[in-house]
Amino acid sequence: MGALSRAELPVGPHRQLNAALHELHHRAGWPSLRDLAREVGASRTTVAAAFSDPRLPRWGLLELLVEALNGDPDRFHRLWLAASSVPDAAPAYADATPSSPVQPVPAVSALSVPRQLPPDVPAFTGRAESITDVDRVLLPPAGGRSSRIALLSGTAGVGKTALALHWAHRSAPAFPDGQLYADLRGYDPDQPVPPAEVLAEFLRALGVEGTAIAHGGPERTAHLRSVLAGRRTLVLLDNAYSEDQIRPLLPGTDSCAVLVTSRDSLAGLVVRDGAARIDLPLLDPEEGLRLLHTLVGSRVDDEPAAARALGERCAWLPLALRVAAEFAANRPRSTLSALVEEFDAEPALDVLTAGDDEHTAVRSVLSWSYRHLRADVAELFR
Ligand SMILES: Nc1ncnc2c1ncn2[C@@H]1O[C@H](COP(=O)(O)OP(=O)(O)O)[C@@H](O)[C@H]1O
Ligand SMILES: [Mg+2]
Repeated sequence: MGALSRAELPVGPHRQLNAALHELHHRAGWPSLRDLAREVGASRTTVAAAFSDPRLPRWGLLELLVEALNGDPDRFHRLWLAASSVPDAAPAYADATPSSPVQPVPAVSALSVPRQLPPDVPAFTGRAESITDVDRVLLPPAGGRSSRIALLSGTAGVGKTALALHWAHRSAPAFPDGQLYADLRGYDPDQPVPPAEVLAEFLRALGVEGTAIAHGGPERTAHLRSVLAGRRTLVLLDNAYSEDQIRPLLPGTDSCAVLVTSRDSLAGLVVRDGAARIDLPLLDPEEGLRLLHTLVGSRVDDEPAAARALGERCAWLPLALRVAAEFAANRPRSTLSALVEEFDAEPALDVLTAGDDEHTAVRSVLSWSYRHLRADVAELFR
């Protein structure tokens, strides 16, 4: 066999990467293009381009080649990241002189630390038990790790997203390499977000140049896992619809933790991926009253029985409680018992529609997933 032709590249991280790849090929005894192509499952042209083309090879392909040549994927990944973070790596350098200054090589640790969490929920109330449950799964004592995936499941409006965000903010110091967040929109009237799209967003948030992001989903997954390997990053996947939406987004090392919310129990994620499911119940009346008190104020103290009746009309569902509280706040001169009477007199759906924001309107939530609601809650809003 023999050496393959080198890519014409200016001095810089991409040239270092190319030189390291040729060196690896040499050390492996110069296996032929045909053998390499067979081993990595790509065409000979594709493999030849990885060695000789001035364009940066995709990480997915390079990783396979490095493995086929018994190289160190971590080392090559660092080289590849450095090469890919030089803007327009290949084309812009086509006519640069060889004496152009060496580009600074960013260390992996210099990549961006994403802080993607949306704001914490105002007036978050209760849930001490569920918070401890999530702690137990995602913040286990050193060496005691069984799973690093927690799944918060429960009916629409029960407070899965609120708890996930609250937990994530509170636990952020345990994840110094950042927090990634994606709303997978599994239950929106719009299409659920395809994992490949989320992968691209995550990679960009981690500082990977857009041009270095591969087209294929599996390659993006491999890239994300490489970037996250060994990092202490929290990945929050909100409103997941199926295991298939989540699996490509799972990091490969348990240095990371994953918190998923879903209306479904996602049995496959529990069985195959070792996720721990934490079912979120309705608020208990004490928590619900505390929330009403925070949101509505002294009227709850003045009319404890009416406040309780209001909570019961809401089935202690946090979403309904917040909508009812909003309703009460908009009628500061009305007594709570008058509100309860009004609730009882009208079809609940027409009363419990919060302004124009369809995402917080009970009506809208019901139309998205009426079938997923618990029977008694559905009954309430019928
Ligand atoms: N523990 C809580 N304290 C205060 N507000 C809450 C709590 N849980 C949920 N909420 C509020 O109830 C509404 C529905 O909660 P959300 O987390 O969006 O439900 P889910 O994600 O389960 O559909 C939101 O307005 C949220 O802020
Ligand atoms: Mg939610």
